[in-house]
Amino acid sequence: MFLDLLSRPLRSLRLSVTDRCNLRCQYCMPEEEYVWLPRKEILTLEEASGLVDIFAELGVDKVRLTGGEPLVRRDLAALVRMIARNPRIEDLAITTNGVLLAEAAQALYDAGLHRVTVSLDTLRSDRFRALTRKDSHEKVLNGIKAAQQVGFTGVKIDSVVMRGVNDDELVDLLEFGKQINAEVRFIEYMDVGGATHWSIDRVFSREEILQVLARQYGHIEPIAQVGWAPADRFVLPDGTVFGIVASATTPFCRTCDRSRLTADGTWYLCLYAQCGFDLRTPLRVGASKAELISLIVAGWTGRSDRGAEERKELRFRDVLVSVEGLRYDPHLEMHTRGG
Ligand code: GTP
Ligand code: 5AD
Ligand code: SF4
Repeated sequence: MFLDLLSRPLRSLRLSVTDRCNLRCQYCMPEEEYVWLPRKEILTLEEASGLVDIFAELGVDKVRLTGGEPLVRRDLAALVRMIARNPRIEDLAITTNGVLLAEAAQALYDAGLHRVTVSLDTLRSDRFRALTRKDSHEKVLNGIKAAQQVGFTGVKIDSVVMRGVNDDELVDLLEFGKQINAEVRFIEYMDVGGATHWSIDRVFSREEILQVLARQYGHIEPIAQVGWAPADRFVLPDGTVFGIVASATTPFCRTCDRSRLTADGTWYLCLYAQCGFDLRTPLRVGASKAELISLIVAGWTGRSDRGAEERKELRFRDVLVSVEGLRYDPHLEMHTRGG
């Protein structure tokens, strides 16, 4: 097992399969125009799954497909099939906005996908439109239903909480999760690249989330943390379990075992990293597997990133990357790097 400079193992890979998205969430893609990755630089399914196989040899046993919106990538089920064939991958999941999930769920399930997490920040369709600039709320709800109907268990709902936007829906979202038997995770609004409207005032913190929920439900018991997951988990008196991902106020960098591969084969060791490792060029000029392995091992064993902690330590904390910076290098966008 390879450890980085802070003794963190290389275990979890987030594979972004496209930088495109069919929504425009305020916290992620608030601008009118975006610079996209050049099409010819997007990895083919074979290139992507070949790299996943190499990562798996180096210890990765958890792969999450992300985007942009991963379901806008054509033939995603074929990629799932290729990755699911690798016995070293014990957990193969997807994070999707759910818009195309109803049509894709069966094929993904049949291809061997293990788990689905759907982003859903509101239960009100008018609010959904204001938050995402699209009218797809019903599609998302149908997508969640379809995922469960085809047989996915352990569906999770991710809700980014923004002050003044949806902080009044915490209880409703939890109740919705209970109803459909899905674990809800509340996510603090993060100052990642692409969040060009971020300000600390709009972060509804983990503490505040817990206060609101305690007012409604009474005593909330933390669940002892197992493993490396970013969400702190809690249980309500009635046994309902939910999570909070508190990257903005309580970063989990010390236990971060994840890295990210963008759709064009750039490998990032942190959500907040300014630069990544170009794996596409060596792959395309015919680098041997051993050469790719040594690149990856050198990258990981030299890793000391703790981006979210460093952000928290700043005395003056503002938007991470300016719009100009994002246009200059779209790799800095959360939607390129995989949410
Ligand atoms: P599980 O395997 O189900 O635990 O999934 P996960 O929580 O790792 O994945 P998911 O895509 O659901 O992540 C939830 C949210 O956590 C993301 O949408 C991000 O907002 C945040 N997040 C994911 N990865 C990172 C990371 O590397 N650093 C930080 N600070 N936040 C992250
Ligand atoms: N803050 C928190 N989460 C974000 N995501 C994207 N941008 C942000 C942000 N600024 C995450 C959300 C969403 C996923 C696709 O990406 O969790 O559910
Ligand atoms: Fe929203 Fe995800 Fe699309 Fe970003 S990538 S706009 S968070 S759905």
